Amino acid sequence: MKDELLKIEKLEVIYKTSEETVQAVNGIDIVLNKGETLGLVGETGAGKTTTALSIMRLLPERTGKVLSGNVTFEGENIFELSDEDMRMKIRGERIAMIFQDPMTALNPVMTVGDQISEAIYYHSEKTNAAGIAARVDKVLELVGISPSRKNEYPHQFSGGMKQRVVIAIALACEPVLLIADEPTTALDVTIQAQVLEMMGELRDRLGTAMIMITHDLGVVAQICDKVAVMYAGEIIESGNMEDIFVSKEHHPYTEGLFGAIPDLASEAKRLSPITGLMPDPSRLPQGCNFQERCSHCMEICTKKNPETYVNGTHKISCFLFKNKEDRGDGDEKK
Ligand SMILES: Nc1ncnc2c1ncn2[C@@H]1O[C@H](COP(=O)(O)OP(=O)(O)OP(=O)(O)O)[C@@H](O)[C@H]1O
Ligand SMILES: [Mg+2]
Repeated sequence: MKDELLKIEKLEVIYKTSEETVQAVNGIDIVLNKGETLGLVGETGAGKTTTALSIMRLLPERTGKVLSGNVTFEGENIFELSDEDMRMKIRGERIAMIFQDPMTALNPVMTVGDQISEAIYYHSEKTNAAGIAARVDKVLELVGISPSRKNEYPHQFSGGMKQRVVIAIALACEPVLLIADEPTTALDVTIQAQVLEMMGELRDRLGTAMIMITHDLGVVAQICDKVAVMYAGEIIESGNMEDIFVSKEHHPYTEGLFGAIPDLASEAKRLSPITGLMPDPSRLPQGCNFQERCSHCMEICTKKNPETYVNGTHKISCFLFKNKEDRGDGDEKK
């Protein structure tokens, strides 16, 4: 497809330590087009950060390993690029990532302006000092911070402003893809809303595609075009926002995760915890990974991996929906 920006195919990632092998990501597929925002949701340990680190090729060197699969970005296979190309041409420049703990991402002894200049300088050799200074002012304005504060240090900024600076650094080189790993979790609720709104505006203005990693359904409802729900390293449900929210059918995990699936209007809904725990990713069960917590669990679920049921963009991997396609119930739902 012409507008395809990122394609993840059958990605499998493990962490291998002396004690165990953690199956962190187990054959996921994701397609993201230019300018689109994907919400990657799921509870702790689902493999969200691992997916992001795989795209960035920043898995821990000794333990993290891509077992199989491909990540194609702008038509190039990320796994076949040299380290040098990855560092100079992709990371920061084409794909930027806001890490899960952004508060530690800033250097406390360097001014905010210098930290942004550094990011620009590092990735655009041809720009002169005046050009860089102008871009620092521009990105600060973009994230709603007065450029007059660029000579201040991070400790002089509030939590929400520090997060805005982190986002400004990520956006400084105008990446085409921004991966934001829980960008607002560390912020209080009002600031969260402001930062999200700002990210949505930036996305609209710059046409940046985003992968928004979150536990928070409000975030997804607010700014995402697509959603992928991860559970134990697999995407168990995915689709465009409309298709997901219009559909009455959901994976039992998604149902539990979202409580009753809210309509798009009730943005404030948060994920409600499901009883039980995710299986140990170093000892995944035979069959469906969700079987132990699922109130609909059938015999087949304990024996075979679930098949994927497709209706338009909406995909659910669960045997409950096994024969639905034959019934042609796509119409029924409308
Ligand atoms: N460096 C590592 N070494 C060994 N195991 C790891 C490592 N990093 C992550 N894991 C394991 O891989 C699995 C997936 O972790 P990951 O960090 O991708 O989850 P996540 O969905 O981002 O969770 P959270 O919402 O808590 O950030 C978990 O079982 C985790 O314990
Ligand atoms: Mg994470």
